[in-house]
Amino acid sequence: MVKICCIGAGYVGGPTMAVIALKCPAIEVVVVDISKPRIEAWNSDQLPIYEPGLDDVVKQCRGRNLFFSTDVEKHVAEANIIFVSVNTPTKTRGLGAGKAADLTYWESAARMIADVSKSDKIVVEKSTVPVKTAEAIEKILTHNSKGINYQILSNPEFLAEGTAIEDLFKPDRVLIGGRETPEGRKAVQALKDVYAHWVPEDRILTTNLWSAELSKLAANAFLAQRISSVNAISALCEATGANVSEVAYAVGKDSRIGPKFLNASVGFGGSCFQKDILNLVYICECNGLPEVANYWKQVIKINDYQKSRFVNRVVSSMFNTVAGKKIAVLGFAFKKDTGDTRETPAIDVCKGLLGDKAQISIYDPQVTEDQIQRDLAMNKFDWDHPMHLQPTSPSAVKQVSMVWDAYEATKDAHGLCILTEWDEFKTLDYQKIFDNMQKPAFVFDGRNIVDSEKLREIGFIVYSIGKPLDAWLKDMPAVA
Ligand code: NAI
Repeated sequence: MVKICCIGAGYVGGPTMAVIALKCPAIEVVVVDISKPRIEAWNSDQLPIYEPGLDDVVKQCRGRNLFFSTDVEKHVAEANIIFVSVNTPTKTRGLGAGKAADLTYWESAARMIADVSKSDKIVVEKSTVPVKTAEAIEKILTHNSKGINYQILSNPEFLAEGTAIEDLFKPDRVLIGGRETPEGRKAVQALKDVYAHWVPEDRILTTNLWSAELSKLAANAFLAQRISSVNAISALCEATGANVSEVAYAVGKDSRIGPKFLNASVGFGGSCFQKDILNLVYICECNGLPEVANYWKQVIKINDYQKSRFVNRVVSSMFNTVAGKKIAVLGFAFKKDTGDTRETPAIDVCKGLLGDKAQISIYDPQVTEDQIQRDLAMNKFDWDHPMHLQPTSPSAVKQVSMVWDAYEATKDAHGLCILTEWDEFKTLDYQKIFDNMQKPAFVFDGRNIVDSEKLREIGFIVYSIGKPLDAWLKDMPAVA
């Protein structure tokens, strides 16, 4: 019987392995992690991550052929195929700080595999890693090999949070990179056989190791670039009276461009886009390609610009100060249908408003108060280093409150910022919200999800990203 062990029970390791276990009942799948609370949560009714459909999949196979354990060494030693799905954050200090990927977690996983293995292994890079990481991993494993044969494969994950289960059930493609040797090809085939249980063969792509590693970074860079492109156009729309939704629709009708991922917003977030582009930038610089590095850097700069433009718009519209004013924030997760707040634009927006001394009241259906206070107290890039969490800062706590209801958050508020596109925000009773807010009452829609005309009829002053401005907002220009 094939036994799979996945190191790292996070947003990728958990759902990916649950789906493999569901689709391959004859394979034993064990997900291991050094974090005891995370494993306990995976073994409970309250899974550690929120993902539509995940509970169902886990319930069907947990205890049958899917297991979660902290006994990392035992399961690694027993497995034939080991997925490594640990975090690969941006380095915060030393060489490449602020750009390069921190492979500490990866390296320690690789050293542990070398220490405990007694039989041949296929080691699969599931984490997103810099191109050529497989070479480094191979060196660690083979220098400690005791005659064991290791094959390293790159099998980057393309799931999107919020739709992870759907994406895993029907992936656009599965990518497997391996060595172009007989042993390498055999290992690729072994992994292909796992996916072939439910993924059509023409969707399983095989490449060399470096192409697979680089494809993941390139895919994320292209996706983020689309968002920054439409966001850049949104600023020009506001300046000219064009409507970004109309422009994006017209642009996306071109079959060479396509309609997806063209929504203007307050900016992209999530654990991957920024870190992967920074990583790409660093790799380009290390390879003597400064022009290419600068090209991709601009994608992040526009994203930062979009967030500060939003904050400036809020402050300038409200008579150039939000000091002491209550601002309601609806949505804190980086996108709908997830509780993940890593790199969410809400962090930068809230920090910007706090910098102007606003009182913030936040409602998000999936994010806890603890999480929000940690996020607002943390330094940039520290969020993905679980061992180095910063203590929460009391000054951030005082100005921020967290409520479990959108109506409570907006009560007596001067302004309302929508920062996540949760469906429930589309159907709130905005008349009731308006009645309970200070006047003039402002709505700043960072996701373009509310019907701005209806809200204007109620009496709100409405800012929607990239849409023609109200006369009020035109008179109060925001300087980014
Ligand atoms: P995560 O932070 O949710 O999970 C990583 C887990 O690895 C943590 O639970 C941590 O305790 C564990 N871990 C770290 N070192 C370990 C060790 N030596 N032994 C055992 N466990 C260890 O991270 P997430 O989001 O699952 O991402 C993992 C990788 O997948 C990253 O490289 C990320 O870039 C990539 N990725 C993430 C996607 C996402 O949507 N979150 C999508 C595609 C790729």
